[in-house]
Amino acid sequence: MVGSLRAAALLACVVLCALLLLLISGVQQFGAQLYADDEEVLLRQLKERRRERNDPSGGESRLLVDSSGSTEAHLDEMGCEALVGMQALEVLGSGYTKLVFKASLSGGQSVALKLVNEQGIDMKKCLEEFRDPEGCRELISYKLEKEMILLRKLQHPNVIKLKGHCAGVQGGRGVEAGRLAIILERGDPLQMIQLLQSPWEDRFRVCLDLVRLLHFLSRSPLGSIGLLDFQPQQFVTVSGELKLTDLDDGSAEETPCQTDADCTLQFPQRNFSVACSAQGSCERLNEKRNIYNAYRYFFTYLLPHQAPPRLTHLVDHIMNSTGELKADVNQTLEAFEHILHLYESGLHLDDIPASILRDYTVMRGMGTSGAVEYRCWPSYSQQGCLLSVHGAKEAAHICNSHSQCNSFTLTGQKTWTGRLLASFKSNFSHLVPDETSEVYVKKSPSS
Ligand SMILES: Nc1ncnc2c1ncn2[C@@H]1O[C@H](COP(=O)(O)OP(=O)(O)O)[C@@H](O)[C@H]1O
Ligand SMILES: [Mg+2]
Repeated sequence: MVGSLRAAALLACVVLCALLLLLISGVQQFGAQLYADDEEVLLRQLKERRRERNDPSGGESRLLVDSSGSTEAHLDEMGCEALVGMQALEVLGSGYTKLVFKASLSGGQSVALKLVNEQGIDMKKCLEEFRDPEGCRELISYKLEKEMILLRKLQHPNVIKLKGHCAGVQGGRGVEAGRLAIILERGDPLQMIQLLQSPWEDRFRVCLDLVRLLHFLSRSPLGSIGLLDFQPQQFVTVSGELKLTDLDDGSAEETPCQTDADCTLQFPQRNFSVACSAQGSCERLNEKRNIYNAYRYFFTYLLPHQAPPRLTHLVDHIMNSTGELKADVNQTLEAFEHILHLYESGLHLDDIPASILRDYTVMRGMGTSGAVEYRCWPSYSQQGCLLSVHGAKEAAHICNSHSQCNSFTLTGQKTWTGRLLASFKSNFSHLVPDETSEVYVKKSPSS
């Protein structure tokens, strides 16, 4: 009895163990199958990218050949040798794909170095999916390489300048040695909050630069380019000038279509429909998407607020025509250049009479000291009221509209449009000789 019980227990044990083994090996096989599938997908993607690079004909991959048919560096670009002895690395910014450092080269030049972001979302997603660090790094490096090639082909004042690249990080070995770093002109990441507090003239500049860029992209050597990931983070400023730095999401393909219904532009607040051309692509969809994105990410925040009173109707017109996609990029650029022309020339101030200056006494070659400042907004200086003007007439007009203002000084400093900086004050204790400036004092001061 005891013997047969033992035998039964033994048998049960054997069966259970066999079942368990079967189960484990099943799971292992299933897992192995999964990994094998992942690896296949990764390999396929890598093969595709390699093929694009080696035989870049047709499709998006045609972006990757330059006019000479080669993807090699240009002779005047910097190479790895430029990075020898570089100093003071500090992170300038990072995104899903790339990491950007500031570096001082041995000659003293400050540049930006762009590399694959090992901690970025792209890398994390790839590792989760494929668990192959080397393969993932290679896959993501293609994006950096694509960006480098696009930067060479799309040279424009509002696209960041490529200075060179190094395809082996100095001192690296193995995988490190094969890593790509691209060397760019260094900019300041766009700070929207800071920009919102800056004078209208500087905010207008950013919007104008953006429109100049979109105009160029709509007729670029590669066709009309749409920026698929259009956000302020993809831009930097260099001495106040806006430059696009993230190019790997640019698309030169217009969406293929069969009917107009295939051509809708969808945004969180609005949808637009575009015509499907006889050739079977959505007409100027890239250009339209770019304009509406410029409107929703830039113009709405930067343009209307504190626009010069005599230009507000022109600004409103731009807001309307871009927000409703009624104007194309040529018309939008014309509208911006027209505003710039009026603003620089002072033509919009024609209705202010020259006689306005009769109320002021002028002292040329003088500045002031011991000034009683007051603050205005948005001023170029934190302490006082420093605004840009076309000349004395506009400054007098502004001074008359500020109850605290009794005098203003036209300084010799100019803004990017060539307008003068004028400092408005309640009072001052003495005049001091200053060849570069002129002081205007109200003949009958306001109390
Ligand atoms: N030339 C540059 N100078 C200064 N900062 C830069 C420069 N290029 C990029 N950056 C900063 O680095 C961040 C990441 O670069 P980006 O090309 O946008 O990478 P990702 O494709 O991962 O978004 C940008 O958002 C920007 O703030
Ligand atoms: Mg980016």
